[in-house]
Amino acid sequence: MIQQIKTHALEHNIPIITDDVAVILSGLIKIYQIKNVLEIGTATSYSAHIMAQAGAEVWSIERNKERFDIAQAFVEKSSLSHRIHLIHDDALTYQCDNITYDLIFIDAAKSQYINFFNKYEKYLNPSGMIFVDNIYFHHLQPSQVKRHTRQLLKKLEKFKTFIQSHDHYVSKIIPYGDGISVSFRDKHQFHDLDANIEMIIKSKKSPS
Ligand SMILES: C[S@@+](CC[C@H](N)C(=O)[O-])C[C@H]1O[C@@H](n2cnc3c(N)ncnc32)[C@H](O)[C@@H]1O
Repeated sequence: MIQQIKTHALEHNIPIITDDVAVILSGLIKIYQIKNVLEIGTATSYSAHIMAQAGAEVWSIERNKERFDIAQAFVEKSSLSHRIHLIHDDALTYQCDNITYDLIFIDAAKSQYINFFNKYEKYLNPSGMIFVDNIYFHHLQPSQVKRHTRQLLKKLEKFKTFIQSHDHYVSKIIPYGDGISVSFRDKHQFHDLDANIEMIIKSKKSPS
């Protein structure tokens, strides 16, 4: 099923996490024993499946009805359906139930990263992590892109500054995939992050 969702996404130009990010995300879910995830930006449920396969129960929000319907059709046929809960809504206005998550994965509109972070961080468990994808946005250079993309790059720069100067979170930007940021409220959890990421990458490279 996961391969089928990936092929469908590639054929229909639906952006999904890269293989590198899938490896890191799965590895972190296993190492930090993440039980539940709130994902902002389901698309067609590829990353939700990756995280469910790694052992987490996933709640995922998607505002685009067409993508939500495709995701739902995939999930209905999936052996992981008991671990994936899809929500059709706009994450900027969605009223979250009062539960907390071990991982919040932000993978929706890049221009809204700060708003997503501010809205959802209160639903993070004290030892949980916030994981954000596409921090580098394909390494595009402001001088080489149109105005709209330049605005997005500016907002991503603002997001980087925002997390790196946050009073209650410690964050790291990992130059892997398209750039990932990982933020923890608990400094002790943050302590081993580099070593854990290195271990995940090494185990991916080593022959199985
Ligand atoms: C990069 S795709 C998500 C890819 C998915 N996480 C994966 O790897 O399979 C971003 C998705 O976020 C959705 N999105 C953007 N803004 C949103 C919002 N405010 N609320 C909910 N979904 C949103 C888009 O419709 C799009 O499908």
